[in-house]
Amino acid sequence: MKDSSFFQCISCSNQYDLHEIRYRCDCGDLLDVIHDLEYYIPNPKKWVDSLNLNNDFAFKRYKDILLPSLPKEYLISLYEGDTPLYDISDRFPQFKKIMLKHEGMNPTLSFKDRGMVAGVSWAKYLGCKNIICASTGDTSAAMAAYSGSSCDLKGIVLLPKGKISPEQLAQAISYGALTIGVETDFDGCMKLVQEITNRHSIYLLNSMNSIRIEGQKAIGIETLHQLDWEVPDWFVIPVGNAGNISALGKGLRELFDLGIIKKLPRLAGIQAEGSSPLVHSFKNNFIELIPQKAKATKASAIQIGDPVSYKKAVRELKYFNGYVESVSENEIMDWKAQIDKLGISICPNSSVAMAGAVKLYEKNIIKETDHVVAIMTAHGSKFSNTAVEYHQDSSNKFSNLIKFISPKISNLENVLNL
Ligand code: F0G
Repeated sequence: MKDSSFFQCISCSNQYDLHEIRYRCDCGDLLDVIHDLEYYIPNPKKWVDSLNLNNDFAFKRYKDILLPSLPKEYLISLYEGDTPLYDISDRFPQFKKIMLKHEGMNPTLSFKDRGMVAGVSWAKYLGCKNIICASTGDTSAAMAAYSGSSCDLKGIVLLPKGKISPEQLAQAISYGALTIGVETDFDGCMKLVQEITNRHSIYLLNSMNSIRIEGQKAIGIETLHQLDWEVPDWFVIPVGNAGNISALGKGLRELFDLGIIKKLPRLAGIQAEGSSPLVHSFKNNFIELIPQKAKATKASAIQIGDPVSYKKAVRELKYFNGYVESVSENEIMDWKAQIDKLGISICPNSSVAMAGAVKLYEKNIIKETDHVVAIMTAHGSKFSNTAVEYHQDSSNKFSNLIKFISPKISNLENVLNL
């Protein structure tokens, strides 16, 4: 098959062969993967029709637009994708329509599986032996699982010691990755990973590797497919290292360029107050990124002060007339409780998006006639301590206190008011 995909620098447009192991341009900037989509999808209408008859799992179904250059025999999948899109409008009638795309329903319980199926399969195709990432807990879980599944790839994960949940830590260890706790924060781990992959032949699988971004595009594409290509007014998404918002934007742009969608949604990127470098940049018309020392937050997966994909995120936010907002710790936890209670278990990073959607509605940026899709990025089961702590504190607005009794029927009757 002719390879009609290549790397292209986001600043100087220099191009490189897709089969090179390369994460940045010689000028130092990030790379995009560019596909000749007219070559891979010559008839978009026919392609869209074929998707409806395609019972493959998500990555395979959308592969023509995600990573057409990957030969089928190198695909390592855990059957990621095909996550639910919940309509919760009846519970929150201030919105004309609000839906949650629950990426926590992926095999390792986060959206990271979408990028990892692409990244780890590509590593196998390139003949790599060792793969590495820095992580706040979800990238590491996903990379560990896919490397475990592949048999011939050794996963190495660098985690900021004491800053990820026990469940996330358990995932990396259980899936067999070499797990290294580093006495620093995520940004410190990310620097180390870039340095080690510059010096040694270990393949980097953070989202600065643009192959991963290609897989992650599936979130937006699949959502639109579920909506029968009816474009919502807003996608609202939590932002940490800024890979996911970049992927969402790139996928939507490509659908628009192919004429599959006829209008563009707006994008809203939401951060936790103490880790909000993108919010500050947005308020300054994106003139520059001033890296922060990210403060501890319940949304620990987005405790990031120096987002690697900043420039890509800004490009998408400008293209999609985007907005950037931050939310407080109370907003994060109260919205997690309200969504959990619907039977939809989400992590605090996900509730950042829901809290952000509500805040933008209250600011009249999201209008009451708007259709909103908020991306829930991971499952609540990854953060059970956080939930138990919240519900044990009666001062929390939506707490559900556990009642403790000795084993006597009268005590049980008392508790049940019988
Ligand atoms: N939500 C969750 C659950 C995450 O794990 C992350 C990032 C994000 C949102 C933000 O996505 O970084 O692409 O802007 N987690 C990375 C990790 C950093 O290492 O697991 P982003």
